Amino acid sequence: MYVCVCKGVTDHQIRQQVSDGARSWQEVREATGCATQCGKCACFAKSVTREAVHEA
Ligand code: FES
Repeated sequence: MYVCVCKGVTDHQIRQQVSDGARSWQEVREATGCATQCGKCACFAKSVTREAVHEA
């Protein structure tokens, strides 16, 4: 599912970043570009990241 429409970032990509070693929203954002355009996805993207980090 797309989390960020502007940058075409999916929840799968966010989880992949976390399994590749990202441990913060900052790192996920830098790696994917998620939430770097309109910013509307930031809240949901952060919660996906938090969940993935928690599960990691
Ligand atoms: Fe993510 Fe616009 S939907 S920056």
